[in-house]
Amino acid sequence: MSKDTINDRKIEHLNIVDKTHGIDREKAYFDLIHLQHRALPEIDYSTVDPSLSFMGKRLSFPLLISSMTGGENDLIEKINKNLALAAQATNVAMAVGSQRVMFNNPKARKSFHIRQYAPDTLLFSNLGAIQLNYELNSNSCKEAIDVVGADGIFLHLNPLQEVIQPEGNTNFRGLSKKIGNVVRELDSNVIIKEVGSGMSCADIELLISQNVKYIDVSGSGGTSWSRIEHFRQPENNGDTLGITFEDWGIPTPESLIQLYKYRDKVTPMGSGGLRNGIDMVKAVILGASLCGIASPFLRPAMNSYEEVIEVIERFKLEFKTAMFLVGIENFKTLLGNHSLVSNTQ
Ligand SMILES: Cc1cc2nc3c(=O)[nH]c(=O)nc-3n(C[C@H](O)[C@H](O)[C@H](O)COP(=O)(O)O)c2cc1C
Repeated sequence: MSKDTINDRKIEHLNIVDKTHGIDREKAYFDLIHLQHRALPEIDYSTVDPSLSFMGKRLSFPLLISSMTGGENDLIEKINKNLALAAQATNVAMAVGSQRVMFNNPKARKSFHIRQYAPDTLLFSNLGAIQLNYELNSNSCKEAIDVVGADGIFLHLNPLQEVIQPEGNTNFRGLSKKIGNVVRELDSNVIIKEVGSGMSCADIELLISQNVKYIDVSGSGGTSWSRIEHFRQPENNGDTLGITFEDWGIPTPESLIQLYKYRDKVTPMGSGGLRNGIDMVKAVILGASLCGIASPFLRPAMNSYEEVIEVIERFKLEFKTAMFLVGIENFKTLLGNHSLVSNTQ
């Protein structure tokens, strides 16, 4: 695919997410989970500590600014710079968007040079796993990690998006083995994620059979890639497939509950429709070591890193408050603590 097609697509995605109504499905699936409120928490709020260690780095709380963008464009460079500056200032993790564009357009690399803005915190690269069946391989993954100076790489799975996209790559045959090759050939952390449709037990088992150690379910309820791709085709000839499938997938809490069964073999992570610190606390209770949030950061990152910090600080305050109200003082005792859910006992 030409360099301009991939680069232009990145800009179209940002515009659609920023300006089109209903891309965030706002399903609030986490609201269906009720926590055991403690009227007598028996702890001191001032000692509640949401910090954790993940992949050898200390984070102030379990937030990951999830993969969004990259490409040859001033606004895209500004977004990644603002996200990285804010991640460093608040000590949270950040992932860049797909780096496929940099293999077709060398000028796009600059947008991924974010280690200079975030020297200490956890940073991740990103590529579409499907490209392992087309134009990319383990060496491309290594290069992507080097360009970011990343602590690991997210490989995303997006079969729904690829089907809705007119130019999509839809041959997923044998992909799990290719993912296994990357895991074997890279001496870095490899995390497999969806992009908003979740993962089934069959997927998780296939990934575990390929020695994958980290999975981010990225379930449904938030950003809908089906809807985004629908709106990328202004003519779309009456084609409503992207709308029909806009809510397709496994809600994030359900997908996390499934993933938790495999926690001995794989470290669970969660994203997709998390919209505040309470959702994050619920995701951690369901077993997620890290909570990814994407679209709520897009508009603030277009404006300034201070606005990104404001959003992060709000999530952190909400997270700490929810911890206090379930009577939990530290991250370790929150993680996977299903006894804190009141309506599944
Ligand atoms: C503007 C935008 C661009 C995205 N680009 C990527 C990407 O390049 N790679 C990827 O793995 N996920 C990408 N995602 C998906 C997110 O990382 C995340 O999995 C998904 O949006 C669900 O989270 P949310 O509901 O908090 O937005 C993108 C999301 C948004 C909003």
